[in-house]
Amino acid sequence: MKSTRRVRVPQILDVIGGTPVVGLRNLTTPGEARLVVKLENANPAGSLKDRPAWYIVEHAERTGRLRPGGTLIESSSGNFSIALAMIGASRGYRVVAVVDPKITPTNRGLLEAFGAEIIVVDEPDDSGSYHKTRIELANRLHRETPGSFRPDQCFNPLNGQAHYNATARELLAQTRNLAAVVCTVSTGGQLGGIARAVKEHAPHVEVVGVDVQGSTVFGGEPHAYLTPGVGLSWTPSNLPDLSLLDEVYMVTDQDAFQACRTLVRSEGLLAGVSTGAALTVALAKAMRARPKQQVAFLAADRGERYLATAFNDDWLKANGLSATADPEDLRERARHLTPHSTRPAEECANYLPGLAAELGSPTLVLARSEWR
Ligand SMILES: Cc1ncc(COP(=O)(O)O)c(C=O)c1O
Repeated sequence: MKSTRRVRVPQILDVIGGTPVVGLRNLTTPGEARLVVKLENANPAGSLKDRPAWYIVEHAERTGRLRPGGTLIESSSGNFSIALAMIGASRGYRVVAVVDPKITPTNRGLLEAFGAEIIVVDEPDDSGSYHKTRIELANRLHRETPGSFRPDQCFNPLNGQAHYNATARELLAQTRNLAAVVCTVSTGGQLGGIARAVKEHAPHVEVVGVDVQGSTVFGGEPHAYLTPGVGLSWTPSNLPDLSLLDEVYMVTDQDAFQACRTLVRSEGLLAGVSTGAALTVALAKAMRARPKQQVAFLAADRGERYLATAFNDDWLKANGLSATADPEDLRERARHLTPHSTRPAEECANYLPGLAAELGSPTLVLARSEWR
């Protein structure tokens, strides 16, 4: 007799997470540690942001903060907005993305493809970037829009919690003899969440943060930079304990762009520019670690997003960057890389404690007991 049991077919949001880890073959020598990469770009909307976006929205649905037909309003010119746009399309929410003029035509196209609405902020904030003006406008729109919900990736502790619960635990289960985990930073979700889980479950593993020169997540002098996805003009509250970090590095735009070009040419792994920033530091760590050890980093998003920039020689030239993808050149850069700090808690804190309230962040009311 035929079974009448129906198998539940997974839906698009069910396949967020559970990403594979792959080892690189060619960028290190047998005398060095193995580089391993967690493919967060295999998430359905193409980046590591699918996890916190869905984690936060699902939590809002469960706690009644977001109701059917509601509106998601977020400040993000990139992956977080794209992840929300996917979620909105699947769950029937309107999505409003507050972006800045630096948004790439590709990201704009992706948001439009998913049906999100785009609002461009054109006034820079006091640091010369657009983060604060974007967040302030998103908060205001949220206050003025009935039935809206602000995921608030920058100040919402559930951003880091998503990576603590899932990304980090998966990574620890998928790796062996791990010497170090290397993560870039913007909102601090991935670095903060992963650092907390690693130090709880595998405290011998080094946690290494990577910012880009010109951003001031770990202090320093602000200036313009080109690396997308990385950087902020303060230390994010999703990275509340810098003592969990063993080292932090500040890479150049050239390091980041060059490394993501080398990654695809030498290993066949097409990923974005922030992945290049992480690779540069991960390679430096692998060159100094023991053979049979592993050094892990994340492929944060898909390289297709950068065909008009990182993978376009004319664009690179126009922006003063070299178009090389030579692995020996990358190894030479990595060999000379030195940490910005080996005592981040003492040397790098650049917190702005009043900022969330000043910008009108709604997430402040989330009780710690809700972080699960
Ligand atoms: C491509 C990419 N890499 C890295 C990051 C940094 O991650 P986080 O915001 O969790 O610090 C982002 C954040 O937007 C990103 O889009």
